[in-house]
This record gives sequence, structure tokens and C-alpha cells, in this order.
Amino acid sequence: MNRPLLLCILWMCVVFSACTQEPEQKKHVIGLSQCLLGDAWRQAMINDVRIEVSNYDDVDIIIKDAHNSNEKQIEQIRELIRQQVDVLIISPYQSEPITSVAEEAYRAGIPTIITDRKVNTDLYTTFVGANNYEIGRAAGMYAAQSLSSQAVILELWGLKETSPAAERHQGFVDALAGRDDLTFRSIEGEWLYDTACVRLRQHEPFEQIDLVYAHNDMMAIAARDYFMEIDSVRYSSLPIVGVDAVYGAGLDAVVDGRVTVSFLYPTGGEQVIRAAMQIIQGKTVDKFIPLHTGKVDKEVAQTLLLQTGQLQNYKRRIETQRSRIDNLSGRYLFLQNSLLLISLLMAVLIILSVYVFYVNKKVRVANRKLRETNRKEEEQRRKLILLNAEIKEVTSQKLQFFTNVSHEVRTPLTLIIAPLDRLITLLQDSPYLSDLELVKKNADRLLRVINQILDFRKVENNQEKLNIREVDVVPFAGEVKSYFDSMASVRNITYSFETQVQHCLLWMDPDLMERVLVNLLSNAFKFTPEGGDVTLRLREDDQHFFLEVEDSGCGIDPEQIDYLFNRFYTANRSEGTGIGLHLVKEYVKMHGGEIKVVSQPHVQTLFTVVMQKGKAHFAETVTEMPILPLAYEAAVLDDTMEKTLLGKNYPYTVLIAEDDDEVRSFLARELSFNFQVLTAVNGRDALQIIDREEEISLVLSDVMMPEMNGFELCRSLKTTLSTSHIPVVLLTALSDERQRIFGVSRGADVYIQKPFHVNYVKITIIRLLEERHRLREQLLQQLQEKRVLLTQPEKVESLDDVFLRRFLEQIEKVYADPDYNVEKLSDTLGLSRGHLHRKIKELTGKTPVEFLRNYRLSQAASLLRQKAYSVSEVAYQTGFSSPAYFAKCFKAVYQVTPTEFT
Ligand code: FRU
Repeated sequence: MNRPLLLCILWMCVVFSACTQEPEQKKHVIGLSQCLLGDAWRQAMINDVRIEVSNYDDVDIIIKDAHNSNEKQIEQIRELIRQQVDVLIISPYQSEPITSVAEEAYRAGIPTIITDRKVNTDLYTTFVGANNYEIGRAAGMYAAQSLSSQAVILELWGLKETSPAAERHQGFVDALAGRDDLTFRSIEGEWLYDTACVRLRQHEPFEQIDLVYAHNDMMAIAARDYFMEIDSVRYSSLPIVGVDAVYGAGLDAVVDGRVTVSFLYPTGGEQVIRAAMQIIQGKTVDKFIPLHTGKVDKEVAQTLLLQTGQLQNYKRRIETQRSRIDNLSGRYLFLQNSLLLISLLMAVLIILSVYVFYVNKKVRVANRKLRETNRKEEEQRRKLILLNAEIKEVTSQKLQFFTNVSHEVRTPLTLIIAPLDRLITLLQDSPYLSDLELVKKNADRLLRVINQILDFRKVENNQEKLNIREVDVVPFAGEVKSYFDSMASVRNITYSFETQVQHCLLWMDPDLMERVLVNLLSNAFKFTPEGGDVTLRLREDDQHFFLEVEDSGCGIDPEQIDYLFNRFYTANRSEGTGIGLHLVKEYVKMHGGEIKVVSQPHVQTLFTVVMQKGKAHFAETVTEMPILPLAYEAAVLDDTMEKTLLGKNYPYTVLIAEDDDEVRSFLARELSFNFQVLTAVNGRDALQIIDREEEISLVLSDVMMPEMNGFELCRSLKTTLSTSHIPVVLLTALSDERQRIFGVSRGADVYIQKPFHVNYVKITIIRLLEERHRLREQLLQQLQEKRVLLTQPEKVESLDDVFLRRFLEQIEKVYADPDYNVEKLSDTLGLSRGHLHRKIKELTGKTPVEFLRNYRLSQAASLLRQKAYSVSEVAYQTGFSSPAYFAKCFKAVYQVTPTEFT
């Protein structure tokens, strides 16, 4: 939490606590020590005390009950002295025992009020009480009036050691001093009803009692009860005089006649509190505050009872009002405090609002700045993205440019290398041979660089695909090693091939792995000076095969090793394109292998290719190739076969579609050694030629051509019934895998990538056509034996298959009809006679007429084998117009007459 907010809350707490405190006002404490509380008189007194105290807000009262025990009272008074009450009121039990503790209090400086009963000292502040002597005298005078002579008076004493008892006795006796005729009996009831009852019963039965004088009403009631118990008739009108006339006890007894007359003895509760308050307020009080008394007979008692009842009512109502007021004051105080609190909270709220507004403003400003910064950053980011995209675009354009240039360069290079090859072969004895070989060597080198750039593009675009097969890596590596043998001997380099293994079958793409090894070896030679060492070492463990190329050349700086395989990184080791080692790493990676290098410049540099055994690490998408002779094997192959194939002239017509004049004429010249050659400048031109010419055996077409490209040409040929049988070989400079797939999916039979070796093109054409020829023969045989095509095949049929099936179905249907001929056949199959002729000839090697005739003959042969029909029946059943013609044709094919055949 920050500082302003904390300060604000602190301030709020201080103000709140200050406001909720009562105004500074000292509370006064009055201590009241009562000798007992168990009777109606003392209860009335306490009641009066409480009502009076409640009139003062600044006074509290502590009331102690000594339960008729001097010891207890002394103890309680001492406790009140210790508490330092402001005023001490003592209503003593017995006078003498309490005197000294009362003096103690007084001496301790506590204003002391003695009430009801007296103490035997003057050391107190004031005495509040009625004149007990006078009460006694009034009672005596009443007795004197109402008693006849010789009457017997029973006096029921209060506790003798208490001043009221003594004084009430004395007054009574004094009032009756002139009546010698009277007899006095006395019993001590100790102020209590129960004690009085007990003592009365303990006393021997009275012979005569004419008046009872009890020092209080409680003992008077006990006397009434006692005498009524003895003789209710005799004593029902016995005059009984009491003292107190307190509401709820004596007063009621006077009204109901149990007590004949009582003398009022006020409790003085109100007066003692008033006196105490005066003392507290610093006013002087009299040493004696008298309480007034009077006779209470039945009449007065009734009035008093009514009045006191009413008074009690008023007091109760006042009490209720007071508690309501207290309640209201409490609520008022609560509301006042609540209001204060609300005001405070509002103040805090306002302060907080101001603070929040201030903070908000700050935040807004900060936010604005942040937004501005963000906007700038976003702008920069956008610019960067644009820049990045531009850089990417430029890079990609650059790379595309390199690729295009490479393609452009590769075609003329091919055209340079091919005639060079031939010249070198022809001019073995020429003095220019070494020059030609130099030209050839550099042309080859140039081609390697171009190829590397194109390979790099393929790897970059993820177009390089693995074609794996199982290769014995030891002879494979040995062969690649031998490419550099002559270079080693020319440069006087000790070049060795070390192997711990004689054979090890490894799954790999031999083409790519050849490039890896060639690259590593040529690097080793490039950086190894004359007289140095280059070693190709092979070793293996359980799961891996290691190909190590070690040289003693200049080596690689340790800090450059980490970047060595990065693309375009040339370091000090290479002045080349910086893609060779990158390609090596990518190719090895494609094989799930690893390449490592350690180098100690000018001592030893070791490249290790780690290949995994087995093929589980290759993705499922990797293509497995059938075992065919590939680049490295071609070198070890006997070339007699190639020479034989290329030495022949073939009865095929090849149509070359190529827009580049030089390439077209080069190809035409080369191919014309072996085939009939026709040329077209683009796809459209080719189509026209095909339409015109009777026999086109094969189309060799470039892909990129104006007007109609190779793909379009291929598609057109393959989707037209009359030409769909013509094989198409596509030639292109584009090394794009997608284009290759595209070409093949358009129906191209073979796809040759530029730069091509012309002999490779020738052999491909020869193989393709020869293979088709072989298949055609096979097919023809099968057709004539009716083994194929007559039932609906399950596989997807090519256009040619469909056509051939329809053709056969038709032949099957009509062969027995001698009038059926090729015109009708061409009508039924929807192909002109010429096209039908060409098509059937291409597909089966026979003309439609020959095919129909042969079919009829093969049917005839099978009928003859059945020996169920005569020769003429067979001739007519198989559609020959005459048995003689049938016999002639049959002999021509089977070399025997039909009769002889069976
Ligand atoms: C009450 C009482 C009164 C009597 C007074 C004398 O305890 O007995 O009846 O008047 O005490 O102290």
C-alpha cells in the first residue's frame, strides 16, 4: 500500500476513536454496606436507593450484603475502603462491633454516612434515621390509652445490641411509667419473624396477654400468627402494635388487621443518597438528618397502601421511562457514532476518490506513453516484418536467379560435354587431346558446381527425396575412392583405403551417399598439399557404420568448426560456394546419420560419417528402389552391352519436340544414328506431325516450350485414343520433384532430367520400345489364346486397355460373320481406318485385318482339335467365305493343312 493511502487510513482511525469517546466525566462511586437484605424493609430501602442513584449520571453504587454477620460486614467495609469509594454508607448490624471499622473509614478520609442503626462513636459524617425513642414513646402512649388496669403487655424485642431495639424499648417504657398496674413480659425476637415464632413457642404459655408491642412489624405478625394458633377466638382482637409500616409487609398487615397499629419507620434510602450526593458535590451536610415518623392505624394504612401502591406504580413507570430514555440515549449515541463514522468514511471516500483520480490520471498518462511506445514498437516490428519479407523475397529471388542461371548454364554445358566426349574418343592420337581433356575436365568441374547449386535448392525446398536400397558399402566406398586415385598419384599424395570390414549391407540412397563421399574426398584433396596423406577408412560397431575421411591438410580453426556445415559458410578452408559441406550434412541427416569433424590444423583433419545399420530409422515415405545399376555401378559395369545396344539401327521413328534449335539439332543428330528422327519446334507442331505421319514410335519432348509445352503435349497424346499408345519421354532442365510427378501423372512414360548423357537417352528409348515390343508379342499371344481382356478387369484400365477390350469383344462377336470387315470394325469402334490400323498395329503388332484373320484361325484350330466338325463346317463357323481360302490361310500360319492339323 502506498504512503498517502496509509496516512489517510491512520488519520481516519485517530479521528474515529476520538469521536466515539464519551466526554471526559468522572464517575463517582458510593459504597453501601447493608447488614442484611433479606426482609421487606431493607428491600424497600435498596429500591429507594437505586431509584435515587439513577437520577445521577455520574454515580455508581456498590451494595454489599453482610447476611446478619458483624464479621462479614467489617470485611466488606474494609473492601469498600480499599476501593476508595467516594462516600461510604453503613447500615450496621450490631452497634459495638461495627463502630471501629466505621471510624476506620472515616479516618481514611472517606465521608461516612451511618443510617438506621447507630454506632458508638461520633466519627462519621452524618447519621440518617428516624427517632426510635419517639417511636417507642408513641407506641407506649397508644398502649396506655388502650389498656385497662392490670393488663399484661408482651414486648417482642429486636436484637438487643442494636440501637433501635434499645431506644424503642426505652421510649415505650418511659411512656408507660405512670402505669404501675401493668405487667410486662418480654421475648427477644431479634427483628426476625422466624426467631420470634420460635421464641414464642419456646416460652411457657401465657395466662394473660392484653397487648403485644413488637419492635417491628415482622415480629408483630409472628405474634399474631402465634396467638391465633393458640386460641383464634380469644386472641383475634388482641391489640398488636408494630413498627415500620413498610409497603408489602407491615402496611398490608395493618390493612388486613393482623397488626392493629404500626409506627412508620422510613427506610431513608432516598435521603442517604441525597446526602451522599451533597457530600460528593462538596456541600456540607448536617450531622443528623432525621426521618419523620407517625402512627399508622387501619385507616391511615389503607390510604398509605393506596398511595404507596400508586407511588410504586409511578416509580415503575418512571423506571420504564428511564430505561426507555437509556435505550434511546444508547440508540442516539449509536446513531451519533454511526453518523460520525459515515461522515468519516465519506471523508475518506472523497480523499480516496481524489487519490484514485490522481493515480488514474498518472496511469492514463503512463498508459498513453506505453501505447505510444507500443505503437512505435509495433510500427518497427511491422517494418521489420516487411523488411524481412523483402529480404526473404530478395534472397529467394536471388536463389531462384541462381537456379535459373544454373539451369541455363547446364544445358549448353551438356551440349559442350557430349561432343567433347565423342571428340576425345575419336581423337585419341591427336596432339590436341590434352587440351580437349583440359576443356573436358573444367567443363565437368563447372557442371559439378552447377549441379551442387541445383542440389542445394532441392535440399532447401525439401524436394530431395531418398530412394534407398541395400548396398554393400565396402565396394561402394572403394569405387568412390578410386575416382581420386589418379589425382592422388599426380599430386604425389599418399592415398589409402583402410577397412576393417569386407562386406556390410547398408540401406542408403547410393546416389546421395556417393555425393557425400565425393564431396568429403575432394575437400580433403583440395586442402592437402603435395606429399600429404588422405585416407578413406571404414569401420563398424553393432549398430553403426563409420566412413572416415582423414587428411593431413591445413585443417580448420577450432572456432570455425561449429559453422563449418552452415550454408554459404566458406571459412578459410574453402574458396568455393559454401554449400558442399552443407549438402553433405543434409544428405547424411536425411539418412538418419551424423557427421562429425575434428581438426588439428596442418596435422590431421578427420570427418566421420556415422550411419545407422538397418532401415527402421527411415520414414515410411522413403522410397525403396529395385536394384538397378546406378551411377557408381555403371563405372564397374562392362560397357559391351551398352555398345551393342547403341551400335544398332532400330525400326522406330522418334519425334523430337524441342524449342531450342541447338538442343533439337544435337538430339536429332545423335538419335539419327539409331532411329528414324522427326523434329518439332513445340507441342502443337509435334501434334500436327503425329497426325500427319503414319508411324511415330515415340515422342521425346522438352517440357518448357512455347505455344504448347511438354506436359500439354503429353496429356493430349495420352487422352486421345488414336495416339494414347505412343510412349512419351519428357526432357527438362527443371529439377523440381513436383514437376517430375506432374509430368508422370500426365502420362509421361519416362522423365529424364537435364543435363542428360545422350547415350542414356538413347538407351532409355531403346529399352522402352523394346520392352513394349516384348509386351506386345506377349499380349498378342495371350489375346489369341483368349487369356486376357475378355472379362472385365478389376484394375483401373488405361485408354488403350479399354480400347483393346472393346476391340476384342467386337472380334469375338463378329468373327463368324464372313461379311464382317475392317470398315465395319472401324465404324463400330469410332476410329478412322487409318487410326484403327495404326492403333491396333501399335498395340498388338498386327494390322486389324491380320488380327481378325489370326483370331478366326485360332478359333478354327480349337474347333478342329475337338474333331466334331468337318473342315468346311469349321471354315464357315469361323467366318471364312470358302473352305479353300480357309485352307490356304491356315497352311500359311500353321504350316499344315486343316485336314493334316488334327
Ligand atoms: C429491619 C428492621 C426493621 C427495624 C430496623 C431497626 O431489618 O428490623 O424492622 O425497624 O431493622 O434497625
